Amino acid sequence: MTASPTIARSGLEPGWADEVRALARRRDAVLLAHNYQLPEIQDVADHTGDSLALSRIAAESQASTIVFCGVHFMAETAKILSPGKTVLIPDAAAGCSLADSITVDQLRAWKAEHPGAVVVSYVNTTAAVKAETDICCTSSNAVEVVASIPAGKEVLFLPDQFLGAHVRRVLQRENMHVWAGECHVHAGINGATLTAQAEANPDAELFVHPECGCATSALYLAGTGAVPADRVKILSTGGMLDAARESRASSVLVATEVGMLHQLRRAAPEIDFRAVNDRASCRYMKMITPEKLLRALREGRDEVHVDPELAARGRAAVRRMIEIGQPGGAE
Ligand code: 13P
Ligand code: SF4
Repeated sequence: MTASPTIARSGLEPGWADEVRALARRRDAVLLAHNYQLPEIQDVADHTGDSLALSRIAAESQASTIVFCGVHFMAETAKILSPGKTVLIPDAAAGCSLADSITVDQLRAWKAEHPGAVVVSYVNTTAAVKAETDICCTSSNAVEVVASIPAGKEVLFLPDQFLGAHVRRVLQRENMHVWAGECHVHAGINGATLTAQAEANPDAELFVHPECGCATSALYLAGTGAVPADRVKILSTGGMLDAARESRASSVLVATEVGMLHQLRRAAPEIDFRAVNDRASCRYMKMITPEKLLRALREGRDEVHVDPELAARGRAAVRRMIEIGQPGGAE
């Protein structure tokens, strides 16, 4: 593995990636990286993938330590699934604006208004919110998770309004209430930008993450025939990789966080992948740097702890999440 120009500029030794691997071996650690991580972090990891795939790997791994290069709720989810393992995140301050968009008190109040409703929480939530949840989901399996709930049952879906709207639309489910939260990165990829880009690139396919503010516009473009329906795909990040490997398109417009372009270009180098909004970068994901990864492995920090009682209450919901739906494209 050679150091990228970014790494050389940052003053890290060219052999940093070898050191990461040696330290990981010494700690009996598996390195997991989300698809939105910096390219150099994705390249040094043992596995890259979407939230669902990484949760499954974390649950199944034989390693005694999990180093999660992602944001805090992802590392917390790994700890909930594997309480006996050491879980490290290179920077515990790597949060998530979507996870912050609902508190456990708000969820309790919402549940009190809908007694008997089934609570479905996106994995982008705190451990306290998961402890009040019946089933977690990710963007890979949200439709399957809600479809698994008897039709007569009310559903409270939280916290992402765009993913919730997508699930409602697919399942035509009226008795599903959706929390009005959003991710600031995906909400910023709007319909006007997507429409302008689709018009300027009439042959391109569109890969759109369901958290995006433009997901409805994408389906509108497909519905009106402005873009042929088979070229518009609403996908999790893992689903985008599967679609890239199968695509025959010469160019694809990508509506999600820009870190995704790295794996897409590796999966299908012959396709021209372009970000719909090249400023859609998650500052939390980018807090995980090679320097902090080295520090994590050298010093065993930042260790992720979840209150055992909260973890026990959230574990069934997270386990149901990893059981439902197909794997989402980890490598
Ligand atoms: P997925 O990788 O599960 O599609 O999630 C996207 C995301 O925003 C994670 O923060
Ligand atoms: Fe959270 Fe959005 Fe960043 Fe994903 S991209 S970690 S949802 S803030």
